[in-house]
Order: sequence, then structure tokens, then C-alpha cells
Amino acid sequence: MKDKVIFITGATSGLGAAAARAFADANAKVVFCGRRIKEGTEIETDIRLRGGEATFIQTDVTIEQQVEHAVSETIRLYGKIDVAFNNAGNNLYFGPIENMTGEQFVNNIMLNLTGTFHAMKYEIQAMKQSGGGSIINTASTAGVKGVGQGIAAYVAAKHGVVGLTKAAALEHARNQIRVNALIISAMATEQWLQGVEKIPGMFEKISASMPLGRVATVDDIIPFITFLASDNSKMITGAALAIDGGTTAG
Ligand SMILES: NC(=O)c1ccc[n+]([C@@H]2O[C@H](COP(=O)([O-])OP(=O)(O)OC[C@H]3O[C@@H](n4cnc5c(N)ncnc54)[C@H](OP(=O)(O)O)[C@@H]3O)[C@@H](O)[C@H]2O)c1
Repeated sequence: MKDKVIFITGATSGLGAAAARAFADANAKVVFCGRRIKEGTEIETDIRLRGGEATFIQTDVTIEQQVEHAVSETIRLYGKIDVAFNNAGNNLYFGPIENMTGEQFVNNIMLNLTGTFHAMKYEIQAMKQSGGGSIINTASTAGVKGVGQGIAAYVAAKHGVVGLTKAAALEHARNQIRVNALIISAMATEQWLQGVEKIPGMFEKISASMPLGRVATVDDIIPFITFLASDNSKMITGAALAIDGGTTAG
């Protein structure tokens, strides 16, 4: 990763923050985003104290101009983007479709799908200029199968992320831009645990439902992100790579 420039959205906590630290530890130059300034600045300082190179840019991925600004700042700093990890996302609404407002539906699509589109648009423009790159989009098992637990808008958005990934991979293969999606099942990040721990026994129930008998940690996922970022995956594009403990196998 030495001298590679990595641009990450949704990196003020959880998987994105772990990826920012992992890429910086591997000597990459990391530019990362999120809305929370305190968390972003703390991660930036921490990486720099460990000798890494990282810059936080406050960005809301639902606002196209902010994403354009973050990408152009990255180009101003380093002249190129080699790897983009589009990870910003979350389920913003729990409840059945018949109770969901249009606004709740659209907000979920804006964050998870349109936010990914905004990032890809400017990353692809930059990568075309510099001769190629690798884009990794965070989808979910909810991006390849239905989930009947009141998260339909999130399911629709993450299916959209997989579709956008495949279309972009074909559209830009000849530009040497690879585009892949991560199919992630339940993953014990701080935010996810906060939600799950509100319901007694839920963590154990979800763990037991996993074919491998446990939920993932960010450490289970990071090696696949660095693999897709590296030349070791140079024949892989348009893939929805499942790192899901067997969840989508059945
Ligand atoms: N944890 C799981 O079980 C699981 C399973 C499958 C897929 N995923 C996906 O994995 C990704 C990371 O999730 P995580 O568990 O690590 O959760 P997390 O800690 O909540 O991370 C989500 C990140 O997205 C950012 N974000 C949210 N809204 C944003 C916006 N409008 N603009 C810019 N950034 C925004 C958050 O930063 P700010 O709040 O600072 O903006 C945060 O850095 C998400 O795409 C999620 O859908 C998670």
C-alpha cells in the first residue's frame, strides 16, 4: 500500500474507522470522511501519532457538493485516488412498509444508495485521469436477499448498491477501474451493538442464527478490503464478495 492514496467514506466509527487505521498502518495515504468532527479528528490524530498519514474531511454523503469537495481535496493533496472505500451507511428506519413515510424511505435511499453514487461519480472521474483504481462498496447480506424484519428501505438501498457496483464495473472495466461490493452479515461494531443490546438475548439469538455460530468482527472483514484494494485481486471486478459466515449460502 506504500504511496497508495485511499479515500474512505463513513470512517468516523466502526468498519470505516478500522479500515482507515489498517490502510494507514500499511503506509497508505488515507483521506477519510464522516459527519462527526470530534470522532473524525480523534481518529486523524491517533493515526498521525502512530506515524501514519491521514486527513479527515467532514462530509455528508447525501450532499453531492460535499462529496465533490472531499474528492477534489484528496486530489489537491495527493494528485490521485488509487482506492476508494464507500462505506457510509446505516438503516435509518425500523418498521413495516405500510407505516413508513415517503421521507423515511427516501432518507434511507439517500444515505445508502445515492451517497454511494455521489462518491463513485467523483472517484471514477479522478481514477480515469490517473489510469485506474479499485472501488469497494459496502453492501450487506440485505443487498442480495430479502429481510422481513422491518428494514425494507435499507434492503432496497443495499440491493441498489450491488446493482450500481456491477453496472459501474462493466462501464469502467476498460478504464482499469475495478468495482466490487462487500456482502457483510451481522458485524459487531459499536453502533450495531448499541442497537442489539437494547433487546435482551438478541445478540445470542443473532449469533446462533449464523451458520458459523458467531457474528463477524471488523477484523474478519478488513483483510478482504485490503485484498480488493491490492493488485492481488486484479482479475476481480463486478463481484459481490460474501464475507458473511455462510449467511447467504442457504
Ligand atoms: N454492523 C453490521 O452488522 C453491518 C452489516 C452489514 C452491513 N453493514 C454496513 O457496514 C457499513 C459500516 O457500518 P458500521 O457497522 O461500521 O456502522 P457505523 O459505525 O455506524 O458506521 C457508519 C459510518 O457511516 C457514516 N455516516 C452515516 N451517515 C452518513 C452521512 N449522511 N454522510 C456521511 N457519512 C455518514 C457514519 O459517520 P457519521 O455519523 O460521522 O456521519 C459512520 O462513520 C454501513 O454501510 C452498514 O450499512 C453493517
